[in-house]
Amino acid sequence: MSRDKKLIIGNWKMNLNTHEASLYLHKLSQIVAVRRDVEVVLAPTLLAVQSLSLQIDRRQFKLAVQNLYWRDHGAYTGEVSATQLRGIVDYALIGHSERRHLFNESDKDTRNKVQAAIRNHIYPVLCIGETASERAAGETHDVLHDQLVGGLANVTSEDLESVIIAYEPVWAIGTGDNALPGDVAKAITAIRSQIKHLYGPAAAKSIRVLYGGSVKADSAADYLATEGVDGLLVGGASLDAHAFVEIIKKAHNDSIVVKK
Ligand code: 13P
Repeated sequence: MSRDKKLIIGNWKMNLNTHEASLYLHKLSQIVAVRRDVEVVLAPTLLAVQSLSLQIDRRQFKLAVQNLYWRDHGAYTGEVSATQLRGIVDYALIGHSERRHLFNESDKDTRNKVQAAIRNHIYPVLCIGETASERAAGETHDVLHDQLVGGLANVTSEDLESVIIAYEPVWAIGTGDNALPGDVAKAITAIRSQIKHLYGPAAAKSIRVLYGGSVKADSAADYLATEGVDGLLVGGASLDAHAFVEIIKKAHNDSIVVKK
């Protein structure tokens, strides 16, 4: 997919049960217009992914999982593989900071999961970002570098075309303490320059990079106008239909509405 199309992902995290998720999707489907310039992706609880996949109009929304396991099959109690999710979801969040910090996921785990997603035709959204203490210590670019190199090891240039990077500074997640657009631009420049180093200038130009961290309806436009930002990864505000729709609207340009 080209960078002309903005990507807005709503990460519902561990909120809404199956019934609530279905009702919420119904509500969203009434108010989100289908437009060619924006792709709207919903990442519900894993429990609801299959039922929502039957309810969804894929021209209007795509689905993502918030995590997956990297082995295809086997004795891995409690896990769900990319192979099992293939055909049900189009995207997978990989290495979200809550996975890294609350569940001790390593760069090796994220690397294996990125590979598993690609192998199963699911777009991996590799989440990277520094903590407050790393930021205070001036280590932001080193952290981004390490998480990129760690997560993308073994990804070929061809495979990189299906990878999306989400810059989510950990200190800005769920805190209301959102990053300044200028700082986001600097971080994303560092990300693209690392991609250039690893894969060359064409890849650095074409890879899609999202921002996430306390995005709200009134801050979305500033981030979307920030150099290098191709979309948003929205947590809390994606659970409020009104706020989420306002955020999606900010991503539209003046292209034609395909369906109301
Ligand atoms: P908030 O928008 O609630 O800060 O969450 C961001 C996030 O973690 C999205 O993945």
